[in-house]
Amino acid sequence: MGGTVKRIGVIGTGTIASAVVRGIAAQRHRILVSERSAHNAHALAEAFEDVTVADNQSVVDKSDVVLLGLMAEAAPRILEPLAFRTDQRVISMMAGATMTQVAAMVAPAQVAAIMVPFPGIATGGSPVIVQGDIALVQDIVTPANTVYAVETDAELAAYLCAQAVLSPVARLAEDAAGWLGPRVSNPDAGETFLRHLLSSSLANSRAGDLVEALNTPGGYNQRLRMALEQGGMHDTLRSGLDRLETGE
Ligand SMILES: NC(=O)c1ccc[n+]([C@@H]2O[C@H](COP(=O)([O-])OP(=O)(O)OC[C@H]3O[C@@H](n4cnc5c(N)ncnc54)[C@H](OP(=O)(O)O)[C@@H]3O)[C@@H](O)[C@H]2O)c1
Repeated sequence: MGGTVKRIGVIGTGTIASAVVRGIAAQRHRILVSERSAHNAHALAEAFEDVTVADNQSVVDKSDVVLLGLMAEAAPRILEPLAFRTDQRVISMMAGATMTQVAAMVAPAQVAAIMVPFPGIATGGSPVIVQGDIALVQDIVTPANTVYAVETDAELAAYLCAQAVLSPVARLAEDAAGWLGPRVSNPDAGETFLRHLLSSSLANSRAGDLVEALNTPGGYNQRLRMALEQGGMHDTLRSGLDRLETGE
């Protein structure tokens, strides 16, 4: 539970901001969400008594900490007409906007941190990447979630590239479940089994150690991994990450 009760405002109540609000709403914070995303905002207000919907300026006016859940390219236009205060601290969740860039959008408020949450924050147990005021973000998202601190813009950018491995891993699991489904009596249980297997195995072991532990010569795991690697998996992943890094 967070250490102090905070008035938290959310500008841009989209997919990720909604997940964050769901994850932190029970922690004694008073939360104001912007009304533009009406469906999300009203669903949150109905679900949590400490969540209220307001227009963007009211969200800013009544908050100590302002979370930005906007798309980075739209943010300057949306934030420009809003009047921030010097005593406010802003936490940006926008991939693609550095702390310096966000500072220009919310002056004279202070940009405290960039925080990159993931959808799992809605139910807890999720990693959260943070640059800047780690303690402030920890106060909001822990102990239900775990903060991974980065120090520089370059480090944050590298984390943002590497985390994109999540979608290919999810696709591999989806495809394996799709293969399994027609062969078993309960396809849903098969899909759940695969998610459980992946999450528990990776949660409890370093990735390289897990590959080694699953490297029985001629075993199922070794054979499938080698087939994918011979199909170019390793090189495709590395070049894909390189392209994300260079913005190609
Ligand atoms: N999705 C993720 O897993 C994830 C994870 C980490 C970080 N992020 C970052 O979070 C940001 C949002 O991503 P998202 O996936 O949540 O996108 P999203 O669902 O499109 O959220 C953006 C929200 O901004 C709202 N908005 C647009 N104009 C506005 C205005 N004038 N005033 C107030 N709100 C306005 C949109 O409302 P309308 O729907 O009404 O247009 C929408 O709800 C991005 O910068 C992204 O990089 C996302």
